Amino acid sequence: MITADLIVANTAELVTCDPALGEGALGVIPGGALAAAEGRIVWVGSESRLVHEVVLAGNGRHLDAYGRVALPGFVDSHTHAVFAGSREQEYALRARGASYQEIATAGGGILSTVAATRAASVDELVALARPRLAAALAHGTTTMEIKSGYGLTPADELKMLEAIGRLGVTQPVEVHANFCGAHEVPPEYKGRADAYVDAVVKEMLPAVKRQGIARYVDVFCEEGVFSVAQARRVLTAGAEHGLRAKFHADEFVTLGGAELAAEVGALSADHLLKARPEGVMRMKDAGVTAALLPGTAFFLGLPYAPARTFLATGVRVALASDFNPGSSMGLNLQLTMTMAVSQMKMSPEEALLGVTLHGAHAMGLEAAVGSLAPGKQCDLVLADVPNWRYLSYFYGVNHVSRVIKRGRLVHER
Ligand code: NIG
Ligand code: FE
Repeated sequence: MITADLIVANTAELVTCDPALGEGALGVIPGGALAAAEGRIVWVGSESRLVHEVVLAGNGRHLDAYGRVALPGFVDSHTHAVFAGSREQEYALRARGASYQEIATAGGGILSTVAATRAASVDELVALARPRLAAALAHGTTTMEIKSGYGLTPADELKMLEAIGRLGVTQPVEVHANFCGAHEVPPEYKGRADAYVDAVVKEMLPAVKRQGIARYVDVFCEEGVFSVAQARRVLTAGAEHGLRAKFHADEFVTLGGAELAAEVGALSADHLLKARPEGVMRMKDAGVTAALLPGTAFFLGLPYAPARTFLATGVRVALASDFNPGSSMGLNLQLTMTMAVSQMKMSPEEALLGVTLHGAHAMGLEAAVGSLAPGKQCDLVLADVPNWRYLSYFYGVNHVSRVIKRGRLVHER
């Protein structure tokens, strides 16, 4: 018998996202149950076997799912959830025909968020981000990557990372920081991107390493921002400091970001709206996850990434929100799944894997989260739907009613 301190039972179905554990690509167990101990999953199976195989410790908790669907907590592998200010006026300008790049060139865009973020203290950044993370949790997100990149000075980048680090220990969503000092060329370095890259590599990265909060390194490799050569410098210097590459590649213009991701062995290359299929093929061979962000195409009114072409190469496809004040002011991964299915023609199975197991791969956390497999953290969502397909099929509403993080009930509606 296995001893547990948490049992989740009476589900309509338990969607493990591990094909070895149940039916189909998602490993669905109809009427499945789950047991956990000390925050880790110790057993999954059909409820009829539960009483024969699991015993609940005296102080343990039995959670009745009341016929809801149980699935892994969502993993949002690309966000900019820490920022000050807001940019709703740009959103209106775009509706009148201005493009994201035109707005950025005119001094809006990322740099307007940089100005607001520089003026904010760590405490203010944390206070601003806290309700956003609470909203993400309420929509089922239990693990989140958050980038710096709105500071663009050594002190302001460290300040952002400190805010991200503090969020990780003061609210339930598991947070991992990505150092994105090369998000944009700051005004002080206008026209001198190489000099700024020098500062990122020689000054900021060593300081970020000493601070010890960031786990990844990012760069906005894009026409008019950082070239492939500059991005290569940032990513390889990051690797020398132990930071894994996860970066913005081929978002608006085909530059070869996908190829660079394969070359440097990145965890993920993100956006890829304009990536060459050959580049994505190389990513596949190098084990790089393609993180697609349909919310950004949706919010900017751009064509979506050619997910089917990418999937045909065999590359692993993750889906993330890109939550940020400029290009994707949304964090509901249920809606992201709807966009993936209706706009990018991903199957509902591929979409759900995109926000769970494949999101975990995009963060290098596949051994810990992303599926309901014994040994992993007990990060679980209960959704008020008749079956898992409703998560993306019935769109624009929040189906999540309970969220468990590391075996603890952390959200209840
Ligand atoms: O992922 N591409 C660069 N960064 C963000 C946008 C950030 C912003 O506009 O504030 C993105 O789209
Ligand atoms: Fe982004």
